[in-house]
Amino acid sequence: MLFVCEECSVESLQWSGQCAHCGAWNSLAEIRKTGKAQRNSVEVARRSVQRLNEISRTHLTRLPTGITELDRVLGGGLVPGSVILLGGDPGIGKSTLALQWVATQVDQIRVLYVTGEESLQQLALRGERLGVDSLPVSTMAENHLESILDQIPDYDFLVIDSIQSLYSENVSSSPGSITQVRESAERLTRCAKENDCSVLIIGHVTKEGTLAGPKILEHMVDTVLYFEGDDASRFRLVRSFKNRFGSVNEVGVFAMTDKGLREITNPSAMFLSGSERDNSGSVVLVTQEGTRPLLVEVQALLDPSSLANPRRLCVGLDAQRLVMLLAVLHRHGGVSLGGHDIFVNVAGGIRVMDSGADVAAAAAVLSSLFNKNFPADTVCFGEVGLAGEIRPVQRGEERLKEAAKLGFKRALVPKGNKISRKIPGLEIIPLLRVEDLVAWLE
Ligand code: TYD
Ligand code: MG
Repeated sequence: MLFVCEECSVESLQWSGQCAHCGAWNSLAEIRKTGKAQRNSVEVARRSVQRLNEISRTHLTRLPTGITELDRVLGGGLVPGSVILLGGDPGIGKSTLALQWVATQVDQIRVLYVTGEESLQQLALRGERLGVDSLPVSTMAENHLESILDQIPDYDFLVIDSIQSLYSENVSSSPGSITQVRESAERLTRCAKENDCSVLIIGHVTKEGTLAGPKILEHMVDTVLYFEGDDASRFRLVRSFKNRFGSVNEVGVFAMTDKGLREITNPSAMFLSGSERDNSGSVVLVTQEGTRPLLVEVQALLDPSSLANPRRLCVGLDAQRLVMLLAVLHRHGGVSLGGHDIFVNVAGGIRVMDSGADVAAAAAVLSSLFNKNFPADTVCFGEVGLAGEIRPVQRGEERLKEAAKLGFKRALVPKGNKISRKIPGLEIIPLLRVEDLVAWLE
């Protein structure tokens, strides 16, 4: 018998009213481990001792999903027996993508779509909307984990929509709790590997993070994909955070239409607002997401503050980095920002992970502070160091080429990004320190 804390997921052999690890009250739930499963895993471990040089290596076979943008984030396609977690906010499009995915593969492999959230009628209606309702996709409305596990030997690809809706007989707590989610994912993963069946696990991320989120599952699965995008925009990004069979931080770009998700294979300009007028506080950044450059608009608004601690709000960029950047601007750039509320936003609901966004965020803040337009035909990128230096970033030349292709005329780039060849139509303005940026904008 084993008890697991619902708050911190620490295990203990005895029940107690308070978790000894995190101090939460009444949070321990019981998990019944079946003896058979434990014996099995020991046997498997014994059997599988082999020397590295003697292991027969078969090359990974991948099954392209038929959706180019999805193949891009998966690293070429679905690997048989792999377990993929697809996380995201409710309503962002996880079920839609999953159904489109299985629909493209139904003629090659045996797929089963298990829904624990919707009725089969609802699923069929969605299929109708997506134009896949005439395909023989096997579906099942089921929450009971053990019944789903029984089906695994008959299929090559299983979709679980969603992990929070499953419950196992072995666990006493309710569906969606940490213990249930963990137990379900663990047994699904094990059963899938034994049967060489791939599994796509859908998981909701709640804004409050209170419900057992997919976070605890990340280490159990082979690949973690997250959906990004905001409600106001129809664009959706699928980003790989972990991938045992491919590179991470690759993004796939989609648009939600009335017929489901449509892929956007050339998205570099789609996050630009397209407004011709120059706006103060608005700067175009060339960022690099995975292997391809994307142009995004970084906006800043500075407003004199009446608060003792002025507000710093940041959407789409790392908030900690912004605070650091403001300190560098103050210390090395000689601009005083302490009396302003500062808001920074990346347009289009995309989250930029690239440290090359520093220069754009700094330029947007300065442009709003000086109330001067940042020229609309100019792009920038670069990382800002704590000493005020502007550091080079990866793939500088590719970023510039993309900007030139989209008709931009000038680029502010770190001096360290030695651009060997001239890019026709693009004037390069090298930056060494933040002081250069301040001087250029003043
Ligand atoms: P859904 O895939 O159900 O989200 P999730 O599974 O992540 O909760 O997508 C829900 C939203 O997508 C819903 O607001 C309706 C919209 N949608 C479309 O715009 N077009 C479509 O063809 C479909 C199927 C959904
Ligand atoms: Mg759904």
